[in-house]
Amino acid sequence: MAILDKHAILEKNVTLLAIFAFLVVTIGGIVQIAPLFWLENTIEDVEGMRPYTPLELAGRDIYIREGCYVCHSQMIRPMRDEVERYGHYSLAAESQYDHPFQWGSKRTGPDLARVGGRYSDEWHIDHLRNPQSVVPESVMPKYGFLENRLIEGEYIGELMATHRMVGVPYTDDMIENARADFAAQADPDSDYDGLLERYGDKVQVRNFDRQPGITEADALVAYLQMLGTLVDFSTFTPDASR
Ligand code: HEC
Repeated sequence: MAILDKHAILEKNVTLLAIFAFLVVTIGGIVQIAPLFWLENTIEDVEGMRPYTPLELAGRDIYIREGCYVCHSQMIRPMRDEVERYGHYSLAAESQYDHPFQWGSKRTGPDLARVGGRYSDEWHIDHLRNPQSVVPESVMPKYGFLENRLIEGEYIGELMATHRMVGVPYTDDMIENARADFAAQADPDSDYDGLLERYGDKVQVRNFDRQPGITEADALVAYLQMLGTLVDFSTFTPDASR
């Protein structure tokens, strides 16, 4: 009883209560947050993950600029209905190079974390131009103007250098060749060996919008077509030691 009597002192003195509440929250906060700064890595490394190619990174920027995340999430939760609809639940490592992450909090449209390879490039171009032409009941806005906006990747090297500052492992070689790689990915007739050497043979090289010149639609579709395709889930096994 004695200790409870003492607690009554706290309950009757607002300043004292504030001081003790602050102490308790501080200790709790330190216990929970501090270890994260000393752990080598809080994200389990997963085979297949690589930084975005310059064209994909440009596409990602367009995705963010157009606010696609307002209607689309990129985070498949580990629940049966989600996994059946969208595929393997999202791994932390799959957004390790995302700055900022695109998990989203609203699904007016479907989750896009694994949309890569689900449709053809033509489908994406038709859908962006006029979503209702392929899904009549769609409420998605039209993004046809992206096909008319030519881009050259003028600042793509600088953008990659910025991502490197926040931890994305872009090499000097990747940054030096950023503009060349940017152009090569959208042109299957180009010499894209260097691009594959730097980012792996799984990089998709195509003229995504089937038009001459590189457009914002090329970059956006290059990004959409690689989403969720990097990790091979037929061979992936979660690391049980963690
Ligand atoms: C106002 C909400 C809204 C916005 C903004 C929006 N979408 Fe959608 N999106 C939808 C809806 C609803 C659907 C489902 C119907 C359909 O396929 O059109 C959809 C479907 C999709 C699909 C097909 C997904 C699947 O698995 O079938 C893709 C890909 C897509 N959107 C990409 C985008 C991109 C890229 C942007 C930004 C340029 C965007 N969306 C912006 C609402 C939106």
